[in-house]
Amino acid sequence: MSKNCKKAYITTPIYYVNDIPHIGHAYTTIIADTLAIYSRMAGLDTFFLTGTDEHGQKIEQAAKARGKLPKEYADEISARFKNLWDEFDITYDKFIRTTDEEHKIGVQKAFEKMHEKGDIYKDTYKGHYCISCEAFFTETQLLDGDYCPECGKETTIVEEESYFFKLSNYQDRLLEWYRENEKCILPRTRKNEVVRFVENGLEDLSITRTSFDWGVKLPKSINDPKHVMYVWLDALMNYLTALGYGTDEANMDYWPARVHLIGKDILRFHAIYWPAFLMSLDMPLPKHIAAHGWWTRNGEKMSKSKGNVINPKEVADAYGLENFRYFMLREVPFGGDGDFSQKALIDRINSDLGNDLGNLLNRLIGMSSKYSQGKISSQDVEKYYKKEIDEVEEHIAKLEPLLYDMQLHRYLEELWRPLSIANKAIDTYQPWVLMKEGKESEALALNGLIANILAKVAVMLHPVMPKTTDNIAHSLGFKIDNDSYTSLIINRELLDEFTIEKIPPLFPRIEEAVLQETKQEENKTDKEPKKNENKSDDKSGVNLITIDKFFETSIKIGTVTDAQEVPKSKKLLKLQVDLGEDKPRQIIAGIKEWYSPESLIDTQVCVVANLKPAKLMGMLSEGMILAAKDDEGLALIRPEKPKKAGTPVG
Ligand code: ME8
Ligand code: MG
Repeated sequence: MSKNCKKAYITTPIYYVNDIPHIGHAYTTIIADTLAIYSRMAGLDTFFLTGTDEHGQKIEQAAKARGKLPKEYADEISARFKNLWDEFDITYDKFIRTTDEEHKIGVQKAFEKMHEKGDIYKDTYKGHYCISCEAFFTETQLLDGDYCPECGKETTIVEEESYFFKLSNYQDRLLEWYRENEKCILPRTRKNEVVRFVENGLEDLSITRTSFDWGVKLPKSINDPKHVMYVWLDALMNYLTALGYGTDEANMDYWPARVHLIGKDILRFHAIYWPAFLMSLDMPLPKHIAAHGWWTRNGEKMSKSKGNVINPKEVADAYGLENFRYFMLREVPFGGDGDFSQKALIDRINSDLGNDLGNLLNRLIGMSSKYSQGKISSQDVEKYYKKEIDEVEEHIAKLEPLLYDMQLHRYLEELWRPLSIANKAIDTYQPWVLMKEGKESEALALNGLIANILAKVAVMLHPVMPKTTDNIAHSLGFKIDNDSYTSLIINRELLDEFTIEKIPPLFPRIEEAVLQETKQEENKTDKEPKKNENKSDDKSGVNLITIDKFFETSIKIGTVTDAQEVPKSKKLLKLQVDLGEDKPRQIIAGIKEWYSPESLIDTQVCVVANLKPAKLMGMLSEGMILAAKDDEGLALIRPEKPKKAGTPVG
């Protein structure tokens, strides 16, 4: 983000309502929130948008699976996102829903405009569509001729009348935009990927559907009621309609966006389709599209369909919301993937926050109470500690560009340098010795130095940890706002004299993981070798385990709703197994030699439900079916009487 305009429009993706919020969503929203808080503190007129994406086949299906109307279902999940952001004190200025009336009107206006411009034409579409990703793929992109290259699920062949957007017309202008705007896509590596993709040629984009209803209708002027709009056209437009595009345009002067914050999974839509749509609409392009990496669990992308999600609320309740914010931004280089572990979170809290920051404030409270009844002055700081304070200012001055480049981990890393200067100064100058030697003014000036370092760090840490830093500022007798930002950071001024307020330790030490899950995670390392030992047929080779360990395995009753042969495979069958969840799980099982697909449909099986999903012949397998095999063949383990799908076994 460059700083030369007064307005800053910051957005998150609008989240699909087929999924409840997990830490991946929280991550994006927290980054955006951090940018928004910074931007306001720095005096920019800021508009921060988030919301939910509620149309499309995927949502229609998810609602149907629960016996609900799409809107009813969307209301429910949308509220869960909004509630979570409210509980997390996210400072959004607007929460948009694509089912909002103004949004739909705006999308229709945009369609009309692109149509008038000659960028939209009607034709027939034939291709492979992945409902889960709401995206088309060409034959060559598919895995094993059938499966989605992004998520491994089966694609369907769609042949229907469709309106197309002339994306191919924009190839050159897109390439020119990438070329002329060094930082339009962040980080750099992602930009290179996009450029290569566009250089390989763009096909026109199908932007309407006739096969389902749950979407924005085409504008009346087009008079083609069979069609609804492609969910991505509808969704991307939210960034404009939220400002009133096509309706009340009062907020349109926030456009163009300062930054669209997204995950790397949706970069293609934001870095190719979206700028092309905007060009067609004669609108300026966003300044930055910034794509972060994925939060993973044991190396797999976290998502509900994989059953490996972490509930951000639980983590925040267990460890403190702001500690969690700090961890997320500090732990992973922006753009890279990060594996979530409680151990890493605890280390950050105890070490960075507790030792480096919290203890420094405690030491200052202790020393100033002892030497000067808590009074602290900046008067002699420059006289005795010029080198230190200058060095601190140099580090602070490097921060803003890092933030604007989305290098948030580096921002925090750099922000910690002043803290180590402060901690080191105490150890080097030893104020208690200075006091003994009668060098009282030097000792008091050292307190002044520490207080100023803490104050400046608190201001710059404020966007990441708003309440914690408000507390620190309160203890140091000032308030964090645009005024203190201007004086302490921009003008490099020092604090006025104040009396320190004692506050309880900010980061009590955490001794062990608070959430149950990590225990399992930690056990895993010593579990694996034992498993190999178990291979022995000798009974004495079997390890005894506690009942808790057994219950780490979630075995459930599943009903087979569909079974098919896997082409070219002698052993595998592809099953869809209902476990009482929103949709059946796909399980690839090596049982073809013993069971025909037809004989399995509507029968029940026992499924290991919390197994890490795996890919077999390019297909995702989301569980394991229990069976026993001896010399005479294989038999599935089944309940003796029918049980409800999803009933736990144990
Ligand atoms: O894609 N790690 O919505 P969505 C990090 N509706 N971030 C993650 C994540 C993970 N494991 N999982 C999700 C859509 N995210 C569309 C967007 S915008 C016009 C339409 C975050 O609910 C990340 O920001 O699938 C990702 O881009 C977004 O959630 C996708 O959310
Ligand atoms: Mg997604």
